[in-house]
Amino acid sequence: MTSILAYCRPGYEADTAQEITERAAILGIYGYCTFDSGQGFINFKVQNHTDADRLGLELRVSSTIFARQLIVAVAELEDLDTADRISPIVEAVASFRSDHWQNGLLFVEHADTEEGKDLAKFCRKFAVPLRQSLRKHRLLTFKEKPELRAVHVFFCRTDKALVGYSYPDCRSEFANGICRLKFPSSAPSRSTLKLEEAILTMLTAAQQQSVFRAGGRAVDLGACPGGWTYQLVQRGQFVEAVDNGSIDDALMASGQVEHFAADGFTYRPQFGRVDLLVCDMIEQPERVAKLMGDWLVKGWAEHAIFNLKLPMKRRYETVTTAIDGLQKRLQNISGNFNLNHRHLYHDRDEITVTVIRQ
Ligand SMILES: C[S@@+](CC[C@H](N)C(=O)[O-])C[C@H]1O[C@@H](n2cnc3c(N)ncnc32)[C@H](O)[C@@H]1O
Repeated sequence: MTSILAYCRPGYEADTAQEITERAAILGIYGYCTFDSGQGFINFKVQNHTDADRLGLELRVSSTIFARQLIVAVAELEDLDTADRISPIVEAVASFRSDHWQNGLLFVEHADTEEGKDLAKFCRKFAVPLRQSLRKHRLLTFKEKPELRAVHVFFCRTDKALVGYSYPDCRSEFANGICRLKFPSSAPSRSTLKLEEAILTMLTAAQQQSVFRAGGRAVDLGACPGGWTYQLVQRGQFVEAVDNGSIDDALMASGQVEHFAADGFTYRPQFGRVDLLVCDMIEQPERVAKLMGDWLVKGWAEHAIFNLKLPMKRRYETVTTAIDGLQKRLQNISGNFNLNHRHLYHDRDEITVTVIRQ
């Protein structure tokens, strides 16, 4: 068996399958996907191991929209003996021993479903003896080395697991492909975690530094009650918060926020331009993408981070159409833009887009 295993949010299997199939075809790799709706992962089956390995080396999870993690899966182990699950897993890992790549990390994982969550404790405990055994068989380095290949054991049930590996530049650094964040107790809404995850996982350290220069200015469209504004204030920004709703008192007391009860589609920056435009208005994705394009093309904002609401159907097409349109407009103006779009863990039926001017 050889396939690419992609983890995703349960309910987004068809979108993930469509995206991985398309991205693989661009690399000249053809296959088909198998999945059950709601299981939180898909399997992209390919002809041979060489194709799967090449995809593992060339398709970065960070360049995809819906995949949380991508694994080259080499074995599907069913009816694992509860008295000894380790031996067949060690055997499977030995089958992808390589002269070029050592394994420097181990992930024992599960899907982001209710059944998957029941396996979390088991996975944590099981990782300890498995790690020891892999080291004893010289299939895992004694020190953790994130710059090497990682072994993944993905449990579907306690007696069924997929075993494979990922390459350092292409995988998500997080177990289960999930960036967990602690909710800041003084933030006014849980939405704050969406922007925090976007900043931490979609922007490089250098981009974070240049976007959030000391004393920078930002506009937050659809700001209330203020979860996104909170992240900007934490990063030393002065924020024009635009929304007809009411904004958190503590944020207003920071002295860094001005509230404008106005329509986000007609609002213009107070001083002609800002460093960063953020937008979390729940609106048609084409409309929001067009508005973001207007701000960037007209130079009202240097960079933008925004969410696009996903429709019930044809989500992948809707997103790619909106993003392609924006990309075309940005190509026509001077300056290079780095555009990323991801379905983040803290997003629900929406994706997050970052547009950073180089
Ligand atoms: C999902 S909430 C934003 C949550 C916010 N980002 C936070 O972290 O607290 C969407 C907000 O967009 C605002 N909104 C929707 N359409 C708008 C428009 N045309 N102009 C301004 N605000 C709008 C709504 O009033 C609502 O407060």
